[in-house]
Amino acid sequence: MAVGRVKALRGRVLTFTADPDDVGLAACYRYLEDGLVVVNDGRISDVGDAATLLPSLPAGAPVDHYPHELILPGFIDTHIHFPQTRVIGSYGTQLLEWLQKYTFIEEQKYRDPVHAAAGAKFFLDELLRNGTTTAVVYCSAHPESVEAFFAESERRGTRMVAGKVMMDRNAPEALRDTPQSGYDQSKALLQKWDKRGRQHYVISPRFAITSTEAQMEMAQALVREHPDVYVQTHLCENVNEIAYVKTLFPKLTSYTGIYEHYGLLGPKSIFGHCVHLEDEEVAALSGSNSIAAFCPTSNLFLGSGLFNMARLKNGPRPVKVSIATDVGGGTSYSMLRTAAEAYKILQLQQQSWPALAAFHMMTRGNALTLGLGDKIGTLEPGREADIVVLDARATPAMQHRMESVHGDIAEELFILMMMGDDRNVKATYVAGNKV
Ligand code: GUN
Ligand code: ZN
Repeated sequence: MAVGRVKALRGRVLTFTADPDDVGLAACYRYLEDGLVVVNDGRISDVGDAATLLPSLPAGAPVDHYPHELILPGFIDTHIHFPQTRVIGSYGTQLLEWLQKYTFIEEQKYRDPVHAAAGAKFFLDELLRNGTTTAVVYCSAHPESVEAFFAESERRGTRMVAGKVMMDRNAPEALRDTPQSGYDQSKALLQKWDKRGRQHYVISPRFAITSTEAQMEMAQALVREHPDVYVQTHLCENVNEIAYVKTLFPKLTSYTGIYEHYGLLGPKSIFGHCVHLEDEEVAALSGSNSIAAFCPTSNLFLGSGLFNMARLKNGPRPVKVSIATDVGGGTSYSMLRTAAEAYKILQLQQQSWPALAAFHMMTRGNALTLGLGDKIGTLEPGREADIVVLDARATPAMQHRMESVHGDIAEELFILMMMGDDRNVKATYVAGNKV
């Protein structure tokens, strides 16, 4: 190992090795009380007991020591809106009115590359401050916003998935593209940015309300031409939305059926929300191996409804489930706060969600649903060194609560998830660099 490129993080290392639904909670993770994560040129080269590995480090290799904190893979947020950093926390409306009253006003500003560049800096700062190292991102309808986002992500070396929102109706003129311009702009951005370094493109028709049939056909053409590229849209979030969608596509039998008709379902397709699905829609998502993104703070804030995780994840027609913030319908950038609201939504439905399952989903689980499990989401040799360091004693109330915890890792994680936020993030590493 060349000195200068090797560094290490020492502390309480926790990573997930299997889905707790498959192997049980006790067997789903690896925990090292005094562990070492060795990083070589941005990738993890070794993980093990500090006592064993420290002697093998090259002389002079820096070791960041976190004796009390937890060292985990960076969080992954599978649905978030980059132009909504000034929409978050807007009072009093449900989805359709919220879009018109706040969101479609704010997103118009992202036509300006200077505004978009400043927004991208703030947005990525905020994600990293919260320990989120990868996100699946909606930009605005303007190619300028996508350029600004990817340029900033590339500069920081973050692994990000992002795309231009396609929308050609039911929105202000300044946000509308056309079937042809939406296709052309998406195609050019995709060709420039997809798989360039750590960047990935995602084809992003906003939702069925804002895309005509002609635009859906163009989205389908893009997917056909680039079958390995991600797709994202919104699905069955709000009952008024669903009723409106049915009037716009009267010949198709369900909301999911519209996306299916236009060839948008598939293993790389991420459907935000999925709160109100008919059984046939669950079957279509399952059969196509599509992903349902659970957005708990958003579903509560916009009064959308309760996501039924057990029905989707463990039902007779299982659907891959990820978790996401959905800022700015969502009310926090923090995946910890997101997990707390998810827990409460599941409580209201008599479903339990152990902390180990939550932390699995926020890291390895989300990585696997995105097909990125060989790159991110775990701490093991070969993975990219995207890492978060969490301090469960960061606030007086948490320090006090932790005084009654004696070595039970699941209890510590549960306290982090129920009481934690950005204050608990002691450090974030992107490809081995502390940011
Ligand atoms: N449906 C269509 N666009 C949006 C959006 O920006 N946020 C949410 N939560 N739902 C949507
Ligand atoms: Zn959304």
